[in-house]
Amino acid sequence: MPALLKIEDLHVSVGETPILRGVNLEVRQGEIHALMGPNGSGKSTLAYVLVGHPKYEVTQGSITIDGVDLADLDPSERARLGLFLAFQYPVTIPGVKVADFLRHAITNVRNPNRKEGEELIGMREFRKELRDTMNELNIDADFARRYLNEGFSGGEKKRMEILQLAMLRPKFAILDETDSGLDSDAVRVVSEGIRKLMGPHMGVLMITHHERLLEFNPPDFTHVILAGRVVESAKGGDLAHDIHANGYAAVRERHPVEAAEEQAASKEKEPATT
Ligand SMILES: Nc1ncnc2c1ncn2[C@@H]1O[C@H](COP(=O)(O)OP(=O)(O)OP(=O)(O)O)[C@@H](O)[C@H]1O
Ligand SMILES: [Mg+2]
Repeated sequence: MPALLKIEDLHVSVGETPILRGVNLEVRQGEIHALMGPNGSGKSTLAYVLVGHPKYEVTQGSITIDGVDLADLDPSERARLGLFLAFQYPVTIPGVKVADFLRHAITNVRNPNRKEGEELIGMREFRKELRDTMNELNIDADFARRYLNEGFSGGEKKRMEILQLAMLRPKFAILDETDSGLDSDAVRVVSEGIRKLMGPHMGVLMITHHERLLEFNPPDFTHVILAGRVVESAKGGDLAHDIHANGYAAVRERHPVEAAEEQAASKEKEPATT
């Protein structure tokens, strides 16, 4: 049975401000889901809350993987359940090389009972796996010896994301490609990487305005979020293509309540003019 990531009636606040207001979404292993929505609608918030970012508070509803509630789990426990944590915190850790980082990350996911100070996954085995994976993804061998994120270009960050995906083999990858200002090379790295890695073992929730990503990886489902709620879910990628071509006006027309809430929220943000 494919694993199921289930989001039910999810309400999330940052400080006092409610941002997600009743999100329902189900992603199964093996499926690609596109999540669309205008700027500020709550897409990144959903990605952050899925991986357990402390700033975002769940005030109602639940996130489960095969019935296991994620509420009290920290990010590394979520990773062990098969959730991919990519680059939500693109930190530079002084002195940590790409290969070291991956070896620790893999050990956490594959050997969950390991105690502090116990052995990491074997060096020889790890090296071989890393080399094979990098070959397969056409990533230069030198890349593994770079310091994590230090001076990484947009394209190199994406290479790291795909390499991590390939090594960690998560059940669910949440990819927020929205605000990263990717050039077309970087978009190609992600598009081709996901296409290579996609299969029955992986479910993907892809947050993106890049049409190319969806062309390379046609979604099984498309969802639209507006003012913190998923207002439409449809099979296939037609809805995504329509939005790329025509924008969100039609979506807003179909959902006047959320469209009005969106307007009200953006008014609140405007600085007072008096
Ligand atoms: N840490 C935070 N502090 C304050 N407000 C926040 C925070 N995170 C998100 N918000 C607010 O929540 C709303 C949703 O933001 P979010 O980043 O989830 O939107 P988005 O759909 O990802 O937009 P974009 O398409 O621009 O990436 C916005 O109004 C944003 O200002
Ligand atoms: Mg965003």
